Amino acid sequence: MTSHSNSNQSLFKPLTGADAPVDIWFNDQALSVPGGRSVAAALLAAGVSRFRATPVSGSPRAPYCMMGACFECLVEIDGVPSRQSCMVQVRAGMRIRSQEGARDLPPMSANVPENVHGR
Ligand code: FES
Repeated sequence: MTSHSNSNQSLFKPLTGADAPVDIWFNDQALSVPGGRSVAAALLAAGVSRFRATPVSGSPRAPYCMMGACFECLVEIDGVPSRQSCMVQVRAGMRIRSQEGARDLPPMSANVPENVHGR
């Protein structure tokens, strides 16, 4: 079983015309994903199905709630770990990595970008 797929066989399809695609990187692989949506929605639309692994067993995880409640969608975005991909809008050039196991908290002085709710 592969860690993720980019075969355009996603079960997730937009209800209306998609925004212009944007080019991003996921685990060092170039992807063209639909813009105008969250990182999680864009990756799911591109066929990515494994966003992180649990710290204890290494079980694969993917977005579940899509509203910031479950934390199953954690990824590293532009070097910042533990970002909720369902709460961050996708932008061209983002470098996203799956989150493998536990991460340390960023230092209090770190300039961590806000999510769409300003938190
Ligand atoms: S999918 Fe549940 S917090 Fe992101």
